[in-house]
Amino acid sequence: MPAAIEVSNLSKRYRVYRKREGVWASVTGLFRRDYKTVEAVKSVSFSIDAGEMVAFLGPNGAGKTTTLKLLSGLVFPTSGDAVVLGHIPWKREHSYRRRFSLVMGQKNQLWWDLPAQESFGLHKEIYRIDPDAFERRRDELTDLLEVGDLVAQPVRELSLGERMRMELIAALLHSPDVLFLDEPTIGLDVVSQRKVQEFLKHYQAEKKITVILTSHYMKDVEALCRRAIIINEGEIKHDGPLADITDRFSRNKVIHLQFAGADVPADLGKYGNVFDVHPPRAKLEVPRQKIAEVLTSLLAKYTLEDVGVQERPLEEVIAEVFTNSKSNCEEVSVSVGETVGPGGI
Ligand SMILES: Nc1ncnc2c1ncn2[C@@H]1O[C@H](COP(=O)(O)OP(=O)(O)OP(=O)(O)O)[C@@H](O)[C@H]1O
Ligand SMILES: [Mg+2]
Repeated sequence: MPAAIEVSNLSKRYRVYRKREGVWASVTGLFRRDYKTVEAVKSVSFSIDAGEMVAFLGPNGAGKTTTLKLLSGLVFPTSGDAVVLGHIPWKREHSYRRRFSLVMGQKNQLWWDLPAQESFGLHKEIYRIDPDAFERRRDELTDLLEVGDLVAQPVRELSLGERMRMELIAALLHSPDVLFLDEPTIGLDVVSQRKVQEFLKHYQAEKKITVILTSHYMKDVEALCRRAIIINEGEIKHDGPLADITDRFSRNKVIHLQFAGADVPADLGKYGNVFDVHPPRAKLEVPRQKIAEVLTSLLAKYTLEDVGVQERPLEEVIAEVFTNSKSNCEEVSVSVGETVGPGGI
């Protein structure tokens, strides 16, 4: 079976006008423009099977949104190839538009002043959805996302979480086979975030659609994806099971300590890596298998007011992949992705 998404040496360079400071520079700028080149995506390659749900991770400006825009046909590449469901995205064929959706958490794609149900009706026409199928899907989606009683209310009156759920419905009404999700939970509170996660998990498991998800919230990634592609400065730094990252980089745990008295003992460093010192509190990073032994020694030697053991947050672990990318990731392979939604092209 061919891959649903096949990307090969895809690059996108932007040329941006660089304005100099000062009046004289503004005047000369009228005659001679100064440009710089931004390499947003640098020769990325990856392949995603039908039915896979892959996380696309990276710091701000890494090239995630640009990749999703390329895969959605919103922008043309500088070089390289991509084939999604047999289509070259930037050819912008109508037959491709009907098979994918892009949801951008930062962008509102519904009509602001109209109730969501009006926008849904518009999507029905744009995507030429069969009326019975449209009603069935709309009712199923509003039910699953628990927004049935809000569809008649102008979108501008909805909360961010409610609006995001409407965006998802609009994106899924035409039953796309590929879904690009660009930070779908950005700005949402924990409860709304979880609702969106649960919905996506359920929907993907049932419909077996192919999903690329970008998110800065590791909770989304942990809940939904088994594979992660990590990108930094336009290049892929890791492509493989999410567990590989957590296993390879989370060999340590962190002991949170609060000592009785005003200070942190000077010899704490002999038990592990001491950091975040705010006397009488400090954190100690210790290999997972040594936790019990270190705790026993510390409790025998010092009087502790409070003690706790925590996993290293996945955010921190991923950040380590960016910073140690060359040395740590050479043995692992590489890849990237991005989005377009209903009426998005
Ligand atoms: N239209 C554009 N014109 C010029 N430069 C752009 C344009 N879009 C993106 N860039 C630049 O390309 C790089 C990658 O941007 P991109 O939006 O893909 O990052 P990202 O990984 O999605 O970041 P974030 O996590 O902040 O959303 C950045 O340096 C950005 O400034
Ligand atoms: Mg982005």
